[in-house]
Amino acid sequence: MSDQDKKKLFERLPLTVVPTHYDLTIQPFLDTFKFNGNVTIHLKVNQPTDTVILYAVELQIDHAKITLDSKDELSGTIEMDKENERVKISFNRQLEKGDCELSLKFIGDINDRMQGFYRNKYTTPDGKEVRYGASTQFEPADCRRAFPCWDEPNFKATFDITLITPKNLRAISNMPIKSENEYPDDKEWKITKFDRTPIMSTYLVAYVVGEYDYVETKDSNGVSMKVYTPVGRKEHGHFALDIASKVLPFYAEYFNIKYPIAKADQIAISDFAMGAMENWGLVTYRETALLIDPKFSSMDSRQRVAIVVAHELAHQWFGNLVTMDWWTDLWLNEGFASWIEYLAVDKCYPEFDIWTQFVADTFARFLVPDALKSSHPIEVPIGHPAEIDEIFDDISYSKGSSVIRMLHDYIGDDAFRKGLHNYLKEYSYKNTITVNLWSHLSKASNKPVNEVMSSWTLQMGYPLVTVVEEQQSNQTRIVKLQQERFIADGSADDENLQWKIPITIFTKSNPKVIAKQILMDQPEITITLDNISENDWIKLNYNSIGLYRVKYSSKELAHLNEPIANKTLSPQDRLMIQDDVAALCNAGHQSFVDYLKLLLSYKDEDNFTVWKSIASRIADLSSLMEYTDYFDQFKKYRLNLFSTIQKELGWDAKENENPLVAMLRPMVLSIMGKSGDQAIIDEAKKRFQCHINGDLIDPNIRGAVYVIVSRYGDENTQEEIRKLYKAADMTEEKVRLLRSMGQSLNPNIIKNTLQFIFESDNVRMQDSASGLVGCTSSCIGRDIVWKFLQEKWMKLVERFGEKSSFLISFVEYCLSDFADEKKANEIKLFFDSVNTPVVTRAVKQVIETIHMRVKVIQRDSKAIQEYLTQL
Ligand code: BES
Ligand code: ZN
Repeated sequence: MSDQDKKKLFERLPLTVVPTHYDLTIQPFLDTFKFNGNVTIHLKVNQPTDTVILYAVELQIDHAKITLDSKDELSGTIEMDKENERVKISFNRQLEKGDCELSLKFIGDINDRMQGFYRNKYTTPDGKEVRYGASTQFEPADCRRAFPCWDEPNFKATFDITLITPKNLRAISNMPIKSENEYPDDKEWKITKFDRTPIMSTYLVAYVVGEYDYVETKDSNGVSMKVYTPVGRKEHGHFALDIASKVLPFYAEYFNIKYPIAKADQIAISDFAMGAMENWGLVTYRETALLIDPKFSSMDSRQRVAIVVAHELAHQWFGNLVTMDWWTDLWLNEGFASWIEYLAVDKCYPEFDIWTQFVADTFARFLVPDALKSSHPIEVPIGHPAEIDEIFDDISYSKGSSVIRMLHDYIGDDAFRKGLHNYLKEYSYKNTITVNLWSHLSKASNKPVNEVMSSWTLQMGYPLVTVVEEQQSNQTRIVKLQQERFIADGSADDENLQWKIPITIFTKSNPKVIAKQILMDQPEITITLDNISENDWIKLNYNSIGLYRVKYSSKELAHLNEPIANKTLSPQDRLMIQDDVAALCNAGHQSFVDYLKLLLSYKDEDNFTVWKSIASRIADLSSLMEYTDYFDQFKKYRLNLFSTIQKELGWDAKENENPLVAMLRPMVLSIMGKSGDQAIIDEAKKRFQCHINGDLIDPNIRGAVYVIVSRYGDENTQEEIRKLYKAADMTEEKVRLLRSMGQSLNPNIIKNTLQFIFESDNVRMQDSASGLVGCTSSCIGRDIVWKFLQEKWMKLVERFGEKSSFLISFVEYCLSDFADEKKANEIKLFFDSVNTPVVTRAVKQVIETIHMRVKVIQRDSKAIQEYLTQL
């Protein structure tokens, strides 16, 4: 069946019969990986019917009955519809309008695919014994794998959950424990009953069974908070607990709505597909997104944990209390949480200067895929549930949050908060769509929010604003601005899309004040700037808040060198100038030589985030230069660019240094090392040797050292890295090591790494993507990985599941850096032949990206070589 057919055939569940409450009992068996289940669903019959349809998949339902009242029971016939993941229950009599209860008995597998109700593998603290726990992951559409239910976000209901588990294990769920009793049938088991949940969607239900330690506290509003950790490592939970206990009351105050559950727990799950999941009252995390070792975690990990915790706790309101009506509006959940996480982290940890990082990590991130013709609007029509997994992407998250940031700036914090509060109040325990938010924000701000926002959420892409100088006279300048969709490879926009763009302009004469602010709702506008001298710089998009790139004339761009070099411009502005120019070079609007020249103005840059942004652009360009015969010359340029900051930072942390410096140092070291700086390579080797001998490397630079020694080391070095990997008990450390392994330039080592990742028991499925990324860090590795993916694709699909987002990551991470047409064709042919719908869009994006890169080489290669030679 083609994708198109599926779309047409798929229908949401009928509203004939709807659930209001679930009574759910689950008994897991961790030796056989089976579970028994029993659910009684309270229903409202809206129209007389003799069939009830709900979702269930990979469940064996043994018994279904309807209870009308204590004396009247109907037994149902069960028909599974595997293709549509549904079950149809038919009765020999009509159910009349009114209330009734549907009871189902079922059994299922505790699977090993990290979806539904699945197993978690862990070892005892001494590392000697392997054991299993089990936990749930239901978003977006896997609750149906754990119990039969109305598994769409707008069928909200309450849940009474009961777990029957071995006595020695913890049983944890969304709500506080109501009672815990011995299980009459078997004294080794216990029955744990939990309080009734608020009215909520099925995808937010959670339960976990296993061995855990925890740390706990109460927040300033008296909400009980625990962080569950692996046994013996409870002190690794303190950092997250501290953040959570600050962030939860921050949100309660910001939204001016109380957190509605008596507890807010967080738990680290050993096998976890994503970063984290916002289940109401019990947020589940990958270990690296929650656990911080006070001694051996890097600053980077701390910042990541702060961000993830702040993100998931925001969902407790935005997502859980108020939920999107259907997955089309997923971006509302994810975009909003991905914006406000920064607001919360900024309040708790101002030293991270996190809003600047927003621009480099989030804003600049979506600009890349959204410039492709194969992009999609923020609001995507979603038909079949198989399409849902595809949209947890940079567009929903990064463009979504950037749109919110722009809007917040456009209407101001007071109106934003007021509108938000009213919106959350009106739709509490209900479902909503995007325009409902706009209308509340409109009302609160008296601005045409819907009109302005729809051009950003309903159409794909974003504009390039071109600055054309019209006239200049004494102390005034007239500039013409033109907008048109920015397309990655520079092609013209056939659809002629237009946006309503909040434009800001500022100039040298008053660099911290916006000189002109205007809503550009035409293809072209003219602006007069006063108080400006002939050679004064002008810049658009103050602090890079608007969703557009800017193209200056070469003269105007040259004027910007000065405020970049003397740092008059904010870091947000400095970093985006080079990001825009790099994108314009990719698109052929200008030559990459211009970019390389521009970067020289950043030589004395000292801001972490600006460097991070440059490093990311340089990495892109490097992966292209790798395919030329002057790559060595390019590496020299790169060395020179980063040398000043490297000398300043050195290898060792200084006392009381800014946390951002701790993150900048390893980034610079690994770039210098990879660029062939012999002194750095030698020092890394020396430190690695000491590390093996027990003199441990500072965790902040450990990742950099591992990468450098892996790249230049031999088989013995690899063996040492693997030993460290096996010995490490912290996932953070394992991932650092795993990433470095494949960065060797020796084909045999890369092949062995792939085997180590996928074909041994050493690496958890969840970490395979990190390992794979390492393997693609060189053109040698890229070829090996592509061959591997082709050979093993069907196996991977089977192992991860055909809808797995891991498959999308494999395609995106591993294939985008090629630079020849032949590869693009190979990729297309291969994915046409395997028919894995979840990667369809990713494959299109990869192919478009490769075509663009090929054109860059054709266009600019000669000029770049000449430029590098004359340096
Ligand atoms: N709701 C998502 C988790 C999710 C993602 C469920 C994809 C189903 C499919 C959660 O809130 C989330 O966004 N997690 C992020 C981390 C966050 C800090 C951006 C993740 O898992 O990467
Ligand atoms: Zn989220």
